[in-house]
Amino acid sequence: MTNKNQVEKYYFDNPEIWEELNTGRFNREPIFLEKIFKKYGKVKNVLDVGCGTGSHLNKLSELGFTGVGIDLNKNMIKFAKEKYPHLKFEVKDMRKLNYSNQFDAILCLCTTFCYNTSNEDVVAALKSFHKALKKGGLLIIETFNPIAFLEKKKFVRTIEETDNYKKFGLKSVNEHWIDETQQQMIERRTVYRLKDNKKLKSDLTKFRLFFPQEMKYFLETNGFKFQDFYGDYDIKYKKLDKFRLITISKK
Ligand SMILES: C[S@@+](CC[C@H](N)C(=O)[O-])C[C@H]1O[C@@H](n2cnc3c(N)ncnc32)[C@H](O)[C@@H]1O
Repeated sequence: MTNKNQVEKYYFDNPEIWEELNTGRFNREPIFLEKIFKKYGKVKNVLDVGCGTGSHLNKLSELGFTGVGIDLNKNMIKFAKEKYPHLKFEVKDMRKLNYSNQFDAILCLCTTFCYNTSNEDVVAALKSFHKALKKGGLLIIETFNPIAFLEKKKFVRTIEETDNYKKFGLKSVNEHWIDETQQQMIERRTVYRLKDNKKLKSDLTKFRLFFPQEMKYFLETNGFKFQDFYGDYDIKYKKLDKFRLITISKK
């Protein structure tokens, strides 16, 4: 089960840092999403699951869509509500949504779905997405793509993020390893204050690794019709050789 530690992390508990470091994605990804909405369905009303700071939803509302954002981290939802008071955000767990036949599309972006580390969590989340979608509604899930780790032999054990965090007077050291028995990538992110190198927080995150065919199987055995895989936020990019996998399916 996703425990509290899966969402209470330095970088989620400080949404202004997350917002600043991800601005490029928030502007770029909704353009791709708009094309996907047009290609696979008739979308107006969107649920953003694990919406974080709410910026995807804000950009989508500028493009004419309506929607709701949910996230299990209270700080993220507080930030989203304050920054975008015209939009609706709620603290909710993706495995226990109480929406019924309400949305034309559900988004679960930026590896949020990988926080479902066990098969039981995966099925619980897919069941609650299925219930929340209208018939014919679209489900768009972005996960890590383990094939790219294998093919490129480029699993990076330690990444030091100094440039990104410098303007906050911080640095982040991110270590990664694999738990083969659970098919999970574990990340330890340690945040240091630059001026005295004081360790501020160390957070452990467990990400479930889904191979593409496994993702398709989970979707199809939980009532979804698989549509397509994408390897990037580019409607023409169908090669699955990058570190992210975007899966499109329909209710
Ligand atoms: C990697 S961030 C992505 C945030 C945002 N979608 C983005 O693209 O910037 C993952 C988010 O999922 C949230 N989250 C993790 N587990 C969750 C759960 N069970 N239900 C709802 N939100 C969850 C975290 O609090 C965090 O804000």
